[in-house]
Parts: sequence; C-alpha cells; structure tokens
Amino acid sequence: MKELKIEEYILSHIDSEPELLKRMSREANVKLLRPRMISGNIQGRLLKILTSMLQPQNVLEIGTYTGYSAICIAEGAPDTSQIVTIEIDDEMESFIRKYFEESEYGHKIELKIGDALQLIHLYEDNYFDLIFIDANKRDYCAYYDIAFEKLRRGGVILADNTLWNGKVIDERFQNDDQTRGVLEFNNHIKEDTRIEKVILPIRDGLTIIRKK
Ligand SMILES: C[S@@+](CC[C@H](N)C(=O)[O-])C[C@H]1O[C@@H](n2cnc3c(N)ncnc32)[C@H](O)[C@@H]1O
Repeated sequence: MKELKIEEYILSHIDSEPELLKRMSREANVKLLRPRMISGNIQGRLLKILTSMLQPQNVLEIGTYTGYSAICIAEGAPDTSQIVTIEIDDEMESFIRKYFEESEYGHKIELKIGDALQLIHLYEDNYFDLIFIDANKRDYCAYYDIAFEKLRRGGVILADNTLWNGKVIDERFQNDDQTRGVLEFNNHIKEDTRIEKVILPIRDGLTIIRKK
C-alpha cells in the first residue's frame, strides 16, 4: 500500500509520460499478454536521463517487447546514434514497427527479430557503449557474458528486474527457474572484478554495471 502511494507520488512529481508511450501502454493493456513487462514511466524517464548523460553512439537492447524502453532510450540518445533492439517473438513485430514509425526518435532504432544470444555475434567486440538487458531471466548470465565482450571499456550495462519482485530474498521462490536465473546473475556480477556495479531498488530492481 505504502509502495503504491510512493509510486503515485513519484509519478506526480516527475516528467510526464509522452503521449505516444501512453497510447502504446493502453494498446498493450488491451491487446497483449503480460503488459506489465513494459518499463513504465518511472523507469522510462530514468532510461532517457541516463542515455542523455552517457550520450552513447551504439546501443543494444536485449528484449524489445513493445518497443517502449527502446523509444525512451532513443529520446535521450544523440541524433547520430544507432539503437539495435532484439526481440525473439516475431508476433510482436508489427506492433513494434508501428510505434517506431510513429515516434520522432524511430529513425535511431533498428529492430531485429531473433534470438539475442545468436544475433549479438553479428557485432564486433567492444562495439556498444550501452547495453540494456531485459529478456528471459533464465538466461541473464549468458546475455551478460556475451554483452560484456561486445561492450567497450567505460561502457555501461543496465540489467532490469534484478530484484525480481522481491523473490531474490524469499525462500519460497529459490527453486523457480527464473528466480534462480536472477540469483545466479546477481552472484556472478558480485564476483566480477572487471566492473563497477550498483543495484537500484526502483520498480523491480535495475542493476547499473560499468566496465572498467
Ligand atoms: C520484459 S520484456 C522487455 C520489455 C521492454 N524492454 C520494456 O522495458 O518495455 C522481455 C522481452 O524479451 C523477449 N525475449 C526473451 N528471450 C529473448 C531472447 N533470447 N532474445 C531476444 N528477446 C528475447 C521476450 O519475448 C519479451 O518480449
């Protein structure tokens, strides 16, 4: 209850959600399964601000879903930047493309349909400045290990859902596949001395990782 009120308070004191993203969320809620996967306005504004601060040229997103977070990243990214976003579910393609075409930032975004674990090999090592990991929780360690090779020194990885709705500290969920994936990822990151890292308790947990 208190958390909901805090969320309402935050939402009423930050930049409001752009109209296109409001419309996208409404359509997702009516037509799609699991619309809660969308980043939402608090995380969306954070992605935009972080991107404005980092000014990345090459960005990778693993897990597009509707394209909501890709558009938030594109809002903050330089006009010359390229944001590659990979989505494995080809049934999402027409929904995503419709909004990318409508967005004034859509020209910065390239959608690739397929498995990120395979498509990421198309890119050279040290290519990306910023990588947002937001796909299958079971595969977080695998995404991270490949993403790390593709990230330049000083580059940043953002990993979403790393507190997994509090399940990471709840004994009842420790054997669930997705929770286990997130726990393994968090432990893997903790031991990795090649990076700096912090977990922000916003929404479902967002880990910020910087390659030294
Ligand atoms: C949490 S949603 C992404 C939400 C989106 N980033 C946002 O914040 O609005 C996760 C998405 O990852 C996709 N996905 C799962 N495994 C994937 C993979 N191996 N490669 C690419 N996409 C994947 C799912 O189909 C799903 O649409």
